Amino acid sequence: MRYAERRRVRLLLASVAFLLTCGFLGVELARGEGSGAPAGSDPPGIVTLRTNGSGMVQADAANGRRLYLTYCVVCHGATGKGDGPAAAMLDPKPRPLTDDRLMSTRSDAWLFRAVTKGGAGIPGASVHMGAWEEALSEKERWDLVAHLRVLHRPTQDRGNVETGRALYGTYCWNCHGREGKGNGPFVHLFVPPSRDFTSAERMARLSDQDLFNAISRGGVATLVSPYMPAWGGVFSDQQLWSLVRFLRLLQGGTEQPTAGQPAK
Ligand code: HEC
Ligand code: HEC
Repeated sequence: MRYAERRRVRLLLASVAFLLTCGFLGVELARGEGSGAPAGSDPPGIVTLRTNGSGMVQADAANGRRLYLTYCVVCHGATGKGDGPAAAMLDPKPRPLTDDRLMSTRSDAWLFRAVTKGGAGIPGASVHMGAWEEALSEKERWDLVAHLRVLHRPTQDRGNVETGRALYGTYCWNCHGREGKGNGPFVHLFVPPSRDFTSAERMARLSDQDLFNAISRGGVATLVSPYMPAWGGVFSDQQLWSLVRFLRLLQGGTEQPTAGQPAK
């Protein structure tokens, strides 16, 4: 009897020790996750944009907003809806810069060129859209692009590109491919195969919130594909937004938008 009891206690102690070790290991593993990645968000108002190719620039959306309200508001309107006081006289009218579907088809480089060269830089666009190359510095024009991004993606300031890059490079690339082209080594195992995150046309159909939901809730919940895992319980919201930021950066490298026609 006594022997059996002692045995039970010893077993109990052993399992407690085992569980403690597991818990400790778990915490350690979780801590090691994404190690080397800076934590938290970008500073408020700072947006990482992609110049042509793989170049990147950190632009100041708060300064961009100030410039926008000085130089662009008269036609595009304070909130970017295309309802500035001069809009009534324009034909074609400025398109709503708040239209996420439309604006997401524009790469960062495209918007920069539109602001720099004006109507001449946008195929088929209006001459009323001026060139700001002379009036504004290169930095100021990138700051404006950052503000344009915030106008159609209010969640632009959540997460951090570098955190997203580190997480993606560990947990996502094997299916989605290093560059997000949907050609990771596991891809042939799944139907449908992973999509191309660099396709602006396809990515433009997804809002930031759509991407967040797909990553957080996974393919079963969002009816995308049963093979897309749900990462909601694994990563913090901060980390999930960081992944969204990184996916947008992959997309931002796409050179040309599909539809360049100005609104009538
Ligand atoms: C005199 C009126 C006017 C002013 C001022 C103006 N725009 Fe425009 N803008 C237009 C018109 C008209 C278009 C062409 C229709 C369209 O694409 O919305 C246009 C187009 C654009 C586009 C292209 C959108 C696309 O389809 O890719 C961007 C970006 C843009 N403007 C940003 C700016 C910014 C930033 C400023 C301030 C530095 C500015 N605009 C000032 C009238 C103006
Ligand atoms: C086991 C393979 C696998 C892994 C790992 C994986 N995915 Fe997916 N993912 C898929 C498949 C398959 C789909 C469905 C096809 C598609 O839309 O790409 C998908 C879909 C998505 C979508 C929705 C795309 C759309 O068009 O609606 C997003 C966003 C996404 N994955 C992001 C991620 C991120 C971020 C990670 C890493 C944290 C990740 N995935 C890890 C396989 C995977």
